[in-house]
Amino acid sequence: MRMILLLGGAGFVGSCVAHNLLQQRYGLVIIDLFLHHQSVVLPGAVIIRGDFGDEQLLKTIFTTYDIAAVMHFAAYIEVGRSVHEPAAFYENNVVKTKRLFDVMLAYGVKRIVFSSSCAIYAPLFSAEKLTESHQLNPLSPYGKTKCAVEFLLQDYAVAYNFSYVSLRYFNAAGALPEHNLGEQHNPETHVIPLLFKACERQEPFTIFGDDYPTPDGSCVRDYIHVRDLARVHTKALQYLLTGGAALACNVGSGVGHSVKELVAVASGICGQPLATVIKPRRAGDVPFLVADVSRVQDLLDWRAEASLPQIIDDAWQFYQRKQLKNNAAALNLENS
Ligand code: UFG
Repeated sequence: MRMILLLGGAGFVGSCVAHNLLQQRYGLVIIDLFLHHQSVVLPGAVIIRGDFGDEQLLKTIFTTYDIAAVMHFAAYIEVGRSVHEPAAFYENNVVKTKRLFDVMLAYGVKRIVFSSSCAIYAPLFSAEKLTESHQLNPLSPYGKTKCAVEFLLQDYAVAYNFSYVSLRYFNAAGALPEHNLGEQHNPETHVIPLLFKACERQEPFTIFGDDYPTPDGSCVRDYIHVRDLARVHTKALQYLLTGGAALACNVGSGVGHSVKELVAVASGICGQPLATVIKPRRAGDVPFLVADVSRVQDLLDWRAEASLPQIIDDAWQFYQRKQLKNNAAALNLENS
């Protein structure tokens, strides 16, 4: 059986994609370090605990399994940390990725779905939607690493006939609570889990800046449910397996929501009003990041389905289950 190799397939987006592919009866090999997602269970997949930068491990996998395509989720993602630790980001996100591409070439595997980001675009200071032809000029080292890999992919496509789909994620959010799959970063910097933390602890939630040129002064983002993201990865894979040409496309909902809107929706879902405190703008944040999704709709026949309340509701269910588990684990420790 031909297999799909998922790098970072136990992480937030990777595990939800893996789940979707398993449901569609794809054979999967997953490499992951399991740093933050020890409890992820993906029955039916071959799971290997390891680093995708381990060349020997990759060679063993390509020798052992008949790999039809690779999906690459194994990146460092914290924008703020990338400013202070660019060396680690370039090493993990670029150097190891180039090594991966070279091993793929050596074994004749030339199809890849790559997790890129809207962070590669030049900042936009008006409410326009970003199209794929918008200038690439990333602000953060994180965005630069994603951009570097897109350039690698373009050049490998021309010179070595690589075929790829680069999915430029906007703000991945939500969860698959029914399968116990969701967001658990450490440290957590993403707005939705932080809203829940504030609700749970009855602490004020910090809004970074309310003096942006947006309708209510807080930043506007395009939140995309991980369930929708999982579907678009499966579409991208099918596209490549049926001979699709190299492609980079935005994956978002096409709709922007401000941080203040998020606070209102989260308060309703968590069942309690949430106090807020306004702090200065966070370094690197831009006022608007909203996707023009025409290309992905046209070429991959995909559009996002989940609304913001659905995204937040699913994330809340996952968050609550995770807290219950953590509390039970803490009690067990106390009692042992
Ligand atoms: N925010 C707050 N308070 C918080 C946390 C976040 O107001 O406590 C605001 C941020 O300022 C931002 C919005 O909520 O305006 C979203 O912030 P996130 O940190 O959740 O997400 P980002 O938009 O900063 O980052 C996302 C992805 C990155 C990707 C980036 C592209 O998580 O991986 O988009 O710019 F690189």
